[in-house]
Amino acid sequence: MADVLCVGGTGTVGSRVVEGLVARGASVRCLTRSADRAGASGGASGERVEFVRGDLEQPDTLGPALEGVSRMHLLTALHPQEGRLGIGAVDAAAEAGVERIVFHSAHRAHAAPHIPHFASKTEILAALEASGVAWSTIEPNHYFQNDLWLRRSLEAGVYPAPLGSAGLHRVDVRDIADATVNALLDDGHEGIRYPVVGPQLLTGEHVARTWSEHLGRDIEYAGDDLDAWEARASRSLPGWLLRDLRVMSEYFLSDGLIATEEDFATMSHVLGHAPRVFDDFVRETVEAWSRGGA
Ligand SMILES: NC(=O)c1ccc[n+]([C@@H]2O[C@H](COP(=O)([O-])OP(=O)(O)OC[C@H]3O[C@@H](n4cnc5c(N)ncnc54)[C@H](OP(=O)(O)O)[C@@H]3O)[C@@H](O)[C@H]2O)c1
Repeated sequence: MADVLCVGGTGTVGSRVVEGLVARGASVRCLTRSADRAGASGGASGERVEFVRGDLEQPDTLGPALEGVSRMHLLTALHPQEGRLGIGAVDAAAEAGVERIVFHSAHRAHAAPHIPHFASKTEILAALEASGVAWSTIEPNHYFQNDLWLRRSLEAGVYPAPLGSAGLHRVDVRDIADATVNALLDDGHEGIRYPVVGPQLLTGEHVARTWSEHLGRDIEYAGDDLDAWEARASRSLPGWLLRDLRVMSEYFLSDGLIATEEDFATMSHVLGHAPRVFDDFVRETVEAWSRGGA
């Protein structure tokens, strides 16, 4: 018996959601494709977390995972069929009698439906609205923690991510997790779409300067050359993802990803504290790296 099924609960955001749920006394079932992990319980979270094998690409694995669960956190990974997989999870949850779904979407996904994975989020939201299950969405801006993948480049003096000069209200993953846990466990969030954004509008130059200050060396912002970005990224990303992220990067360069006053006001109902500041994240990260952390 579990209170919450976490789909995506082993990933960047989901693992922090699981920790937050357990800290508030909930029992959690965590879906994973990994046969090694399935059947295990707990880790640092003790007996309150149960890992079960399941795969959104194999819908018949979802029914057993949803047995006895009243709430679901649905985080769909990037996938060429993300919309279809997410809708399958919503349908399975409705069928299993789940009472509340909190869906992890993306900030302003509705405003840029030409970005394939933003369009998927909108398709899944439509399925939630039609499902009869109480829902809310968490719609995060670009994560601070994406920069953890850039350590090698930063050490070589370059910040390479295409953030542009219009700016993004980038956000700390810990705030996304806090908002998600509150939406899952507290009442009063039904039918609300929550932007989850950081307090400052961050441009590529600003981000590079912040890393430069904390690393104590010059960091050049090199993100606006999307052809160079694509040439590098094509070594590690499949074609469909490269195209998707290129379209998103073009959007960041032309429009940014900018929060409104209304976004901040709406977020305050679910976050419960002030959003974390990018400068603090970079300082903590550089300190952790200097102690030998990942
Ligand atoms: N990065 C950003 O700045 C940003 C901003 C806004 C929104 N988003 C959205 O956030 C999501 C990614 O979140 P994240 O970074 O936390 O993800 P992540 O770290 O990549 O983790 C992906 C999770 O999805 C699970 N998963 C993958 N394929 C699955 C499948 N077929 N069936 C069941 N589970 C599956 C993985 O579990 P196992 O490997 O254990 O199976 C893992 O728990 C995407 O939807 C993205 O659009 C990202």
